[in-house]
Amino acid sequence: MVTLENIKSDPEIDMYFQKTNTYLGHMGAIVHDYGHANTVARNSRHILEALAFPRREAELAAVAGYLHDIGNVINRYDHGRIGAVLVFTFLLNMGLPPEEIATVVSAIGNHEEKTGSPVSSVAAAVIISDKADVHRARVRKRDFSSFTTRDRVNYAVEHSDLKVDSELRKITMELTIDLAISSVMEYFEIFLSRMVLCRRAASSLGCDFELFINEARFL
Ligand SMILES: [Fe+2]
Ligand SMILES: [Fe+2]
Repeated sequence: MVTLENIKSDPEIDMYFQKTNTYLGHMGAIVHDYGHANTVARNSRHILEALAFPRREAELAAVAGYLHDIGNVINRYDHGRIGAVLVFTFLLNMGLPPEEIATVVSAIGNHEEKTGSPVSSVAAAVIISDKADVHRARVRKRDFSSFTTRDRVNYAVEHSDLKVDSELRKITMELTIDLAISSVMEYFEIFLSRMVLCRRAASSLGCDFELFINEARFL
């Protein structure tokens, strides 16, 4: 059975992965490196394992989490759906059964907040893990005057954490924001649609979703 480790050690996939971050770098877009891919993979797996979903589903969530942004190698816009088609060919070549390919590509094709939906447990886990990975280290620009609002909000986040309480069935995102850089209002201006999608995703896993910013509860 194909695992996340097989995906990571495939040189062809790795080349597309590296090019993705290079091209986004030329646009000044936030970092989409191994750090982001590994964080999303790890948290996606953790959410499903903690909530006692089958092991193989958690492995597929890790695969989808690792590859979710690879469509950016073609274009940033609609990268979720483009990436799903790209990953379809990778997984077909690796011999995954159609049922597993469908699980992975639907999660990748549904991770963007504009068009995505938690269509499965794997999709829900990837949505939450991706949206939770917001922090300063992902801002590539160094010149503050060139920051977009999205850059500024990301830059303001000094710490982000995702917790899963399997007994209370609660998924909690905790952020520490430097209010001198971005206000909480500004955070919501940019991230409200993401948080709404996270709440839907958590609810599809039978969980409540909570958001804490600087220790105050907002959702
Ligand atoms: Fe994405
Ligand atoms: Fe992402």
